[in-house]
Amino acid sequence: MSNISTASMDALKFIVGDQGYRDHLALELLDPGFHKDNLQADLALLPQTTEHVAEILKYCYENDIAIVPQGGRSGLAGGCTSRSGQVIVMTDKLDRIVEIDPHERIAIVEAGVTLQALQDALEKYDLSVGIDLGARGTATIGGMVATNAGGMEAFRYGSMRQRIVGLTAVLPDGKILKDMPRVAKCNEGYDIKQLFCGAEGTLGIITSVILQLESSSSYATTMLAACPNAKAAVKIFRHLQNTCELELLRGEIMWREYAHKVADKISLKQVLNFCDSPFYVLYEVSPRITNIELDEMLAESLMPLMESGDVFDLIVASSERERDEIWRIREDSFVIDHGLDTSLWYDVSVPLSQLDNYAEQLQQQLILLDTDINAYIMGHLGDGNLHMTIGADKPLRAEIQNAISAAVEAGLKSIGGSFSAEHGIGTDKRKSLQAYGDPEKLKLMKLIKKAFDPKGLMNPGKII
Ligand code: LAC
Ligand code: ZN
Repeated sequence: MSNISTASMDALKFIVGDQGYRDHLALELLDPGFHKDNLQADLALLPQTTEHVAEILKYCYENDIAIVPQGGRSGLAGGCTSRSGQVIVMTDKLDRIVEIDPHERIAIVEAGVTLQALQDALEKYDLSVGIDLGARGTATIGGMVATNAGGMEAFRYGSMRQRIVGLTAVLPDGKILKDMPRVAKCNEGYDIKQLFCGAEGTLGIITSVILQLESSSSYATTMLAACPNAKAAVKIFRHLQNTCELELLRGEIMWREYAHKVADKISLKQVLNFCDSPFYVLYEVSPRITNIELDEMLAESLMPLMESGDVFDLIVASSERERDEIWRIREDSFVIDHGLDTSLWYDVSVPLSQLDNYAEQLQQQLILLDTDINAYIMGHLGDGNLHMTIGADKPLRAEIQNAISAAVEAGLKSIGGSFSAEHGIGTDKRKSLQAYGDPEKLKLMKLIKKAFDPKGLMNPGKII
């Protein structure tokens, strides 16, 4: 039984036409994505244009129906969970790449375009979105803007917030906000479009954006360095960044427990045989100059760091298969979560100078809670963005789970970090936002929410 009247269901279906909706039964057949409650709403609408979205939102506003916007459903913070009585607006059919202008270096895309589709379309221009993440095949540009996604290249080009120059969104009452300059410099007072970045659909629905593009990097070399601590990993990172013949593309850090656990689970233990080390770091570099012997150059360049003990040892992928194996150890992180009785997942930012201290203190606190608890840590080194699975091969009581969250999050603010790095607040981190958010900022956030969405109909229950 739906909690939305038949008349409203019919009116909403009429806006999008026969092919433009999925009812509750059809939703049950869809992949809910990361969160099991993503598809609990009575109806999903798949509008094809911004005007469709506007009509839907106007109707819902006038009839007090709550809306949950959804892109690729690859978010990990519960930002698009839904329930009966709500309507999902999916951006799947807003999937046009409207324009790529290689001279202006911008792309105009609708919200439902996946990152992969845009990356593929940019290939022939040798251009890049300036952002990359593991979920590229499902994550949509609209969802990535809404969550201010970061990923592996954020240390070079920023998160989505830094990538957008223009944005069109439908406001909760159905009005259309069109802020679509094609230029990066546009100082016209408050930058309202930036509020949609990280708002996770609580202020309206993004329907299209203009993105700045970057040069794509040519052939890359992937290496895995073994080193004694995070401090050394950062030293190598900076060294590679400062080597003028090279462009550092990626730097992904893995603590020993993480790397060995994943390698074991996916049967790639041999990849780590070159060195048993407390830390492994995946660096990817590309030559800035053609005709250099990259391997030789790297060996020579890193020699002083090997002599100083910052690099224990290093392997360089010599084939696509080897590259893929190294990357799989970094990317197949969820094999750990799936193998544990209790697992908690965190996404935090830690200042680079504090990485070792932070992780050591955390481990000490976890041991005091229960010696069976393990922490598996990896992340995007350049941003100090750590992804952590903490859990045990046994059930952990709610009090212990809360104590783990406190151990992870409580000290971050005072060292200049954040309890939420790149995955947003959604439903999962609301309590943390209340606990650690600046009180004045929280008050302003509530006022902004009220100004955009006085009836509280846009993605209710998320963020604040
Ligand atoms: C990653 C995702 C989970 O970096 O953010 O693997
Ligand atoms: Zn990540």
